Amino acid sequence: MHKWIMAGLLIIACSLGIGVIIYQALTAEGDNTPSADEWANFVVDAAAAQELYSQNCLSCHGADFEGGPAGPALTNVGDQMERPSIARKIKNGGGGMPAFGTMLNDDQINNLAVWLSEQTSSAQPNQPGEEAEGAAE
Ligand code: HEC
Repeated sequence: MHKWIMAGLLIIACSLGIGVIIYQALTAEGDNTPSADEWANFVVDAAAAQELYSQNCLSCHGADFEGGPAGPALTNVGDQMERPSIARKIKNGGGGMPAFGTMLNDDQINNLAVWLSEQTSSAQPNQPGEEAEGAAE
């Protein structure tokens, strides 16, 4: 009888331990989210962002961010969304957009988010379509 109680306690302890490890793994990603300062001073790697965009996003959001049947335009996304919300959208998807949290790492996602945030009604510095064609040669 005593043995069974010990075995039971052991199983409960193990499940708790596994639970804690899983919880930490799931919540750990939140910890390297940039601070407000880091978002503001983020230095974009435009070439990397452009490549990621043409590989993962262009099919729905267009070669000039013009959008299409499968995704909205991102032409002025910098006016509409803050950098962290753009990053969250890329990571979690939703509303018809796939989640990229398992395909891209946080650095790639954050870089893409800041690069996209540069697209506003007054400035359109990034043209992924043109460069992507050049890169394919
Ligand atoms: C399969 C098509 C598809 C792909 C691929 C895709 N998206 Fe989207 N995206 C969407 C749809 C649909 C929405 C609208 C979702 C909504 O309304 O909640 C959206 C919304 C967004 C938004 C928010 C725009 C807004 O005005 O609300 C951003 C930012 C965005 N996508 C960026 C990206 C990036 C960056 C990638 C590539 C890593 C990407 N998307 C790949 C379909 C896609």
